[in-house]
Amino acid sequence: MSVQATIEQMQKQVRELAKQKAAVILAHNYQLPEVQDVADYVGDSLQLARAAADTDAEMIVFCGVHFMAETAAILNPDKKVLLPDLEAGCSLADTITAEQLRAWKSEHPGAVVVSYVNTSAAVKAETDICCTSSNAVQVVESIPADKEILFCPDMFLGSYVKRLTKRDNMHIWMGECHVHAGLRPEDIEAARAAHPDADFLIHPECGCVTQCLDFLASGHISAKNTYTLSTGGMLKHAKETPATEMVVATETGILHPLRKQNPTKRFYPVSEDAVCEYMKKITLDKVLRSLQEGIYEITVPEDIASKARRAIVRMLEIG
Ligand code: 13P
Ligand code: SF4
Repeated sequence: MSVQATIEQMQKQVRELAKQKAAVILAHNYQLPEVQDVADYVGDSLQLARAAADTDAEMIVFCGVHFMAETAAILNPDKKVLLPDLEAGCSLADTITAEQLRAWKSEHPGAVVVSYVNTSAAVKAETDICCTSSNAVQVVESIPADKEILFCPDMFLGSYVKRLTKRDNMHIWMGECHVHAGLRPEDIEAARAAHPDADFLIHPECGCVTQCLDFLASGHISAKNTYTLSTGGMLKHAKETPATEMVVATETGILHPLRKQNPTKRFYPVSEDAVCEYMKKITLDKVLRSLQEGIYEITVPEDIASKARRAIVRMLEIG
């Protein structure tokens, strides 16, 4: 049997089992193409959190990383949430623990804690309001100007938001995602020089996002047609822009939905090496096994979940 026929057969089995078990399959934009194609819903972190909050399915199979499945479990304490591989972690979420956040809070009594959703449930439980890359600016703008803010854990997203909101009283945790921090300015310049008419889409977790903003402010030529966007924002932009070519600075999984939804346009990754090995832990055979065996169930103790839920719900109410 050809590889394609095997994939299609497995996808059919997954769909049949999902129907039998009243399960919904959610997949992040960085997932493998064959996993995205079998999902009921594919989206960015915020869209998936909303999909998890809104579903009436009995079971959620989360094709993404651990903190995303935890968020789904926190929002659905009565549903079974499955993550097909427990090793699907996140280097960024690992940069801060609840204990570290508590110590940081004690140095800034009264500060409002804003945590990126790329954090553990225990960190969210110490948080006032969560955010994702698509609503971080709105979330920070919702906090009274005289309130000190502790923003964690992504330093590049934090600097980007601080700059856009012109907030001096915002302290930023020095965490980073190894995939986005690894995208080097010289690779970006080379990709842009090779495609001078292309729009440039950059994720705010990228190490050089603030440099791009400096270029924009100074009128540097390479700042032309630059858009800082979440993965969902990139998909929206690609559909709406008159540009027919785009250079993309984020994890390469996004190329699949970009190309699928825009077959006449061309997309060029800044680096083919920008691959999140955690996202790629979720393979089609593991999704099938997850449904067959009900593994691996993600649960969050209610004392932590109830506090974390408040921070997530506050975010969902804002934008
Ligand atoms: P978004 O899909 O929300 O842009 O997030 C990217 C990411 O790195 C998730 O881990
Ligand atoms: Fe975490 Fe980075 Fe992977 Fe996203 S791409 S899941 S932030 S390690």
